[in-house]
Amino acid sequence: MKTKKTITDSTVDPDILAYTVGDDPVLDLALAKWDCMGTAAHVTMLSEMKGLKRPVVTKQEAAKVRKALGRVVALAEKGKFTIREDDQDVHMAVERLLTEELGDLGKKIHTGRSRNDQVAVDVRLHMKDEILAAEDEVCALAAELCYFGWCAGAIPLVGRTHLQPAMPSTVEMWATGHAEMVLDQLANLEAAYKLADLNPLGSAAGYGVPLPLDRARTTKLLGFSRTIHNCFGASMARGECEAALLSALAQLMAVLSRLAEDMILFSMPEFAYFRLPREYCTGSSIMPQKFNPDVLELVRSKAAQVLGLQTAALSLLHAMPGGYNRDLQDCKGLYMKGLDITRTTLRILAKVVKGLKVDPAACRAAFTPGVFATDVALRKVAKGTPWRDAYHDVRDHLGQLDSENPDAAVAIKKHEGTCLGLDHDLYRARIAAAYKSADARRRELDANCRRLLK
Ligand code: ARG
Repeated sequence: MKTKKTITDSTVDPDILAYTVGDDPVLDLALAKWDCMGTAAHVTMLSEMKGLKRPVVTKQEAAKVRKALGRVVALAEKGKFTIREDDQDVHMAVERLLTEELGDLGKKIHTGRSRNDQVAVDVRLHMKDEILAAEDEVCALAAELCYFGWCAGAIPLVGRTHLQPAMPSTVEMWATGHAEMVLDQLANLEAAYKLADLNPLGSAAGYGVPLPLDRARTTKLLGFSRTIHNCFGASMARGECEAALLSALAQLMAVLSRLAEDMILFSMPEFAYFRLPREYCTGSSIMPQKFNPDVLELVRSKAAQVLGLQTAALSLLHAMPGGYNRDLQDCKGLYMKGLDITRTTLRILAKVVKGLKVDPAACRAAFTPGVFATDVALRKVAKGTPWRDAYHDVRDHLGQLDSENPDAAVAIKKHEGTCLGLDHDLYRARIAAAYKSADARRRELDANCRRLLK
């Protein structure tokens, strides 16, 4: 029987190896930098460990390892770092490279550590970086929606409920309403960030090790907000933060999908409020007249897929016994795919919103007399009729409603958050604060990375 050799096993059936390795050699490339950062922190901490007769690694050796790790990161940044199947994953590939370069010193870096806490650290650092980038993209889309709304100003738009014409509204209210929904999703991303910002390192395989590890030290070096105290708990947390992130992404995608759906609907010829630029539409192989909003239809389908990824993550977790199980490896591809889809969608939608054109005449032409019915009843109230009587009076004489001037109808709606009561400074301030907060954290992450890998 043919077998293969890896760092951890001298005899593995090649088919079994391929199945268990799965997509790690590709997926783990995204973790290379973070794996090196985690290892640099671990080795630094090992070199500072007190109470040992003989240090596991000396401070000079730790410095050598950190330099070599810096070179691995440089290799990865040039696209020249590869993970072989017999490495199994990024962790073993890095250990192999360090051992090739540093000999026995390379073989010491894994002392007091397991791939279980190692991968959990990598994933968390990667997530933090990605969530911050996604938050920037959320802000960019919200800013684009606000700008679109601000340019359209008080162009009247029929407000709809049940898709039926309801009340006078504006294009600005539509656009900034979506912007606010998108911005509110930052709260979910932040919740996922907070969970990712915990350090599992030092939990080893999930039960600690008989060495005086200083877990607070790696928490500080890596810039985590705190250590996950219980080692078993730290191993159980793998997968949970991936699922939490996917939940935030699924919810964000649902918001984006509704935005896409509105744009599809309002750019239909039957509505024609909006027009998508020709170059954003795709044609048909048989119908020469077609300019379809495929890009927005795919946003809907991607939203469904991210929800599927969240479901996959929770399904994978819910019946899994405590402690590390290899099932967890499959969480990695799920959250990475979720991030990729969501971030691409945010960028594409910002582009679509930027190109979206409004047809003010079509917007105004859609105001049927019924859209003013509530306003007519309210005018009766102003003259002293109790609301319910005014309501019945209008409802009983719907045929007598006149068409009115939509611009005048929106111009008198002024309270907070309605047509003329929209506060752009509020959105600007929220967007600026979110950018600033993400930027500060990204700088800190970069600074920690540079400090550890020099
Ligand atoms: N590639 C593995 C994963 O993502 C690394 C951890 C392997 N641990 C183990 N005990 N086999 O889960």
